[in-house]
Amino acid sequence: MKDLRKNNNIFDDELPADFQGSLKWQSPSNIALVKYWGKRGRQLPHNPSVSFTLSECRTETSATFHKADCFGLHFHFEGKEHPAFAAKIEKYLLENLSLFPFLSQLDLCLESRNTFPHSSGIASSASSMSALVLCLLDIERQAIGARDIDWRKASYCSRLASGSACRSVFPTMALWGATDYHQDSSDEYAIPLNDEIHPVFKTYHDSILLVSDAVKTVSSRAGHTLMDGNPYAETRYRQAKHHTQQLLAALKSGDLEAFIRITEAEALQLHALMMCSSPSFILMKTNTLRIIEEVRLFREETKIPVCFTLDAGPNVHLLYPDDFSDEVKRFIVNILESYCADSRWIADHVGEGPSRL
Ligand code: PMV
Repeated sequence: MKDLRKNNNIFDDELPADFQGSLKWQSPSNIALVKYWGKRGRQLPHNPSVSFTLSECRTETSATFHKADCFGLHFHFEGKEHPAFAAKIEKYLLENLSLFPFLSQLDLCLESRNTFPHSSGIASSASSMSALVLCLLDIERQAIGARDIDWRKASYCSRLASGSACRSVFPTMALWGATDYHQDSSDEYAIPLNDEIHPVFKTYHDSILLVSDAVKTVSSRAGHTLMDGNPYAETRYRQAKHHTQQLLAALKSGDLEAFIRITEAEALQLHALMMCSSPSFILMKTNTLRIIEEVRLFREETKIPVCFTLDAGPNVHLLYPDDFSDEVKRFIVNILESYCADSRWIADHVGEGPSRL
């Protein structure tokens, strides 16, 4: 494997005294189908994961920078100071200065906002950390006069900031984690699956049903750690590897039945793992289960290939191909909306990945 930590560029030297500029990137969130839950070493996964890249749930980050004698960082979130986010970013940058050596000569102002609603319970670390990394790599690109961003490095650096963020840098779908069933796969970075999937998956919607907007009771960092003592950990990792193999085949052939079976099994397993951790967490709410029951009933009655997945929280992601969007949207408005907090849901869909704004 290419050693992505090595930087054959100019940063052993001085940046030009007039080096300055500003740039802006947007990067989307992603929703995992095969889940990453449990990590080792420096943010390395115990099993491969596969995700849809989203479109409407994104972070937009702008960076303004100029040459300075030492590294300076100023961070604002949605126009205000946000000490918790600022501390997370500073920690990441200081721990990874070898990836961004030019930072030691830069005064950097970051301004970030999310396009999804406040307190929607939607995790933003994947979109925010990948947007940050893309800003940094774009500054590096300008400093060394390179043409393009190195997307593999973008994924690698994003992974070190927040595991699932490494999947957000690619359009449509991404695979992160080494598997025998994809020769380019790696634990160190994600790879795009754009060319290896049936066209139907490029039309997928993700309607995010906001059952609760409460802040998560367990952070994903704590959740990953709990897997270390989980009695089912080894079985889980084995099964996730098997699910990855089966899902990759279903994605290629367009087998929606297999897609539904694997996706729902993965969502429920993630929550089962949390329930049998010590301490144990139940992150589903009553209305999460009601929605799941309604979705399964609706699918049985209509034969429409709609299924659900869950993140580490109570909100339900409804996944379905565009061909059925009218029927599913009617189903949401007529039945499912009543289970959502203030009837709120987000109409998202598979997206193009990050872009420079
Ligand atoms: O990237 P993290 O450390 O926030 O973990 C993400 C964990 C899940 O969202 C539950 C699953 C996944 O693969 O995205």
